[in-house]
Amino acid sequence: MTSRYGAGMHGADSVESVSIIRPRGVAAQNPATHPLIDEVVKLNIAAKRANALELLHAIAEEHGAVTFANSLGAEDVVLTDIILREGLPIEIFSLDTGRLPAETYTLIADVEKRYGTKLKVFFPESAAVEAYVRSEGINAFYTSIELRKACCHIRKVEPLRRALAGKKAWITGMRAAQAATRANLPVREHDAGNGLEKYNPLADWSEQDVWAYIRIHELPYNALHDQFYPSIGCAPCTRAIAIGEDVRVGRWWWEDANSKECGLHVKK
Ligand code: ADX
Ligand code: SF4
Repeated sequence: MTSRYGAGMHGADSVESVSIIRPRGVAAQNPATHPLIDEVVKLNIAAKRANALELLHAIAEEHGAVTFANSLGAEDVVLTDIILREGLPIEIFSLDTGRLPAETYTLIADVEKRYGTKLKVFFPESAAVEAYVRSEGINAFYTSIELRKACCHIRKVEPLRRALAGKKAWITGMRAAQAATRANLPVREHDAGNGLEKYNPLADWSEQDVWAYIRIHELPYNALHDQFYPSIGCAPCTRAIAIGEDVRVGRWWWEDANSKECGLHVKK
């Protein structure tokens, strides 16, 4: 269908063009992904890394069976770097919804090359995707919140359950400053819906902290971040933001800010 909400990242079908105000595709350097880095910043990042590392060690020791949900976003490449470089006994998995942007697949390959390992990828149940698409349509998520959430359930929430099966704790790259829905994000919480402990080691990191870490350690990252996509999910449900906008404005941009969670992080 043709979306009445404007273009996603590959939204050539858009009727309502937003490209005049959106800096999508501009060549100028994105200040958010290029923070100033001086000696004070380096010391701060070293201290933050040490804290995160200590916490990750403690999580692995306390729970044994631990897994990290890696969306390949900027926060997650930081945690991936710490876990893999330190050889921590923490599994890493990614959910491939089948609708990810090409740049995310490129990054998966880059990460696998850099660390000499393969990422554990979970896919949706093909029968559930087929049934949804046949009855509702290929881009039905634009038509109602219910159909959007149903798509997220099939492509993310159900595969997440399989990824968490048998685990005692899981780790995410969420930060409190990312969204109104995450303002009170704790470092440790009980995930009653999935029945295990959940940790957000970067809860108190700022966007600048994340990008300073990426630059200092020269990590591979999603090319879309430089094109003003601070938060990247599925291609049709993600678009660029303008400078100064909240980082999650480009996710499900047609919905109300308070409903913009896909079900991975919903409190039960
Ligand atoms: S989402 O719920 O809106 O999609 P967001 O993109 O901000 O979440 O990511 C928050 C955290 O959820 C990530 O740091 C990661 O831990 C987890 N996550 C989100 N999407 C995925 C994915 N596709 N694969 C694995 N983990 C994911
Ligand atoms: Fe479906 Fe969009 Fe949710 Fe991806 S983000 S699972 S395409 S509704």
